[in-house]
Amino acid sequence: MPGFVRLAALLWLVCAQSALAQASLQPQGWKADLALPGVEDVNDDPRILEVNLRAAITRIDVGEGRVVEAWTYNGGLPGPLIRVRVGDRLVVHFKNELPQPTTVHWHGLRIPIQSDGVPDHSQPPVLPGGTFTYDFVVPDAGLFWYHPHVMSAAQVGFGLYGPLLVEDPKEDAAIGVADELILVLSDMGVQDDGQLESPESGGPAGMVFGREGNRLLVNGRQGSTLVMRSGAPQRWRIVNAAKSRYFRLLLGEETFTVIGGDGGLNEYAVERDELVLAPGERADAVVAPKAEPGGELTLMTVPFNRGYGSVEYRAPELLLTVKVADQPRHAGFRLAPVGKSIAALNQAGATELDVAFTLDSTLTYGINGKAFAGHQALRASVGETQIWSVTNKTRWSHPFHLHGFFFQVLDERGQPVRPMAWKDTVDIPFEKTVRFVVRFDDRPGRWMYHCHILDHADGGLMGLVDVGGTGGTHRHHETGPASE
Ligand code: C2O
Ligand code: CU
Repeated sequence: MPGFVRLAALLWLVCAQSALAQASLQPQGWKADLALPGVEDVNDDPRILEVNLRAAITRIDVGEGRVVEAWTYNGGLPGPLIRVRVGDRLVVHFKNELPQPTTVHWHGLRIPIQSDGVPDHSQPPVLPGGTFTYDFVVPDAGLFWYHPHVMSAAQVGFGLYGPLLVEDPKEDAAIGVADELILVLSDMGVQDDGQLESPESGGPAGMVFGREGNRLLVNGRQGSTLVMRSGAPQRWRIVNAAKSRYFRLLLGEETFTVIGGDGGLNEYAVERDELVLAPGERADAVVAPKAEPGGELTLMTVPFNRGYGSVEYRAPELLLTVKVADQPRHAGFRLAPVGKSIAALNQAGATELDVAFTLDSTLTYGINGKAFAGHQALRASVGETQIWSVTNKTRWSHPFHLHGFFFQVLDERGQPVRPMAWKDTVDIPFEKTVRFVVRFDDRPGRWMYHCHILDHADGGLMGLVDVGGTGGTHRHHETGPASE
């Protein structure tokens, strides 16, 4: 057989197999309750996704008979699902029709500082009626998300967040699970009269704890139903977009096969009984229910101990009703070995930094005792590797988030936690220390790091790393006068 015929036959086989693997195994309409709107591409180039994104107040039905005046992107809650392929260019023409300044931050994306969406550091705030264009190439596959970075506890709490899925068709074919579900978890504080709860509710104590909304939303709604089929895998891509709430997910007796997180696929898959997501974190998990056909499951979130007052007198809460279709069990599914080779960052010569999360007697959060306003930027040079020891000296846990760069969390021996994973958000439990290693590649700028409990960030738990700024490498306590 001539070479090209063999090649063609081989290609046909590969395509036929992936087509086979990609056929849906779920009943019609299985995720109809959880549909997310897309967004129109106004650019003909297949490698450029160019979209319009408009922030405005919109009346939204959040389910169970409740309509609220939410803050929305393109009139939806959550904002539209932006779906791109890895390596594509994304152009977003943003328009602010809100009564407040805002910006759009692309959480977890390793993009140039000009599109990072931090007011006064990477761009001016977008004033009411104003516009801004974000334009960048998307470097990594994974589930990311976007949200404002101005008064973020208030604005995210009112509904400004949306998912950004960066696909790698090769990875998806290798995983071979056709049925994919994006789950944007959040909550919203809604009063009995239907008004949104004030972002100041509970005063300083509310800020210190981190305000959680009383309505738990999955893709912007309460009371939704998902249909699964016994034995048939679904790939759940989950983001915690709540401003303060941790989710600890339980699906009856079922298990989650976790294949990835913040920065795409992990080193290898692990099976878990529950999934914990701190605000800002993502999970990529395959679920193939063992439950009998015709049954019902519930996706619950169970109180997670994130410090004083977080579990006392609190009960599990319902996120989704899951109907198991009355249809024969799908037999024979076994997940292919899924993983991505992740090289441990070389720690030789790395700079060590200590960062402490503090809360002072005036109920102000800070980094090393200083609230954001008085904080001096840490420094890193381009190409520098740093090991950060982040110590939480407070009685509440804080999900640490670094803009623009992934890191590898280290264990007690200083080795990357297995399975290895690229993270941009990691929980720092109350009164504990977490260490991670990060390499600052060639994207100079003043990059934020902060707690992703957004009340805490607004309450002072924020800082900046000046990458490639003048002066090169310095320990944070050796930096010059505050430049904020
Ligand atoms: Cu989602 Cu500054 O963060
Ligand atoms: Cu915090």
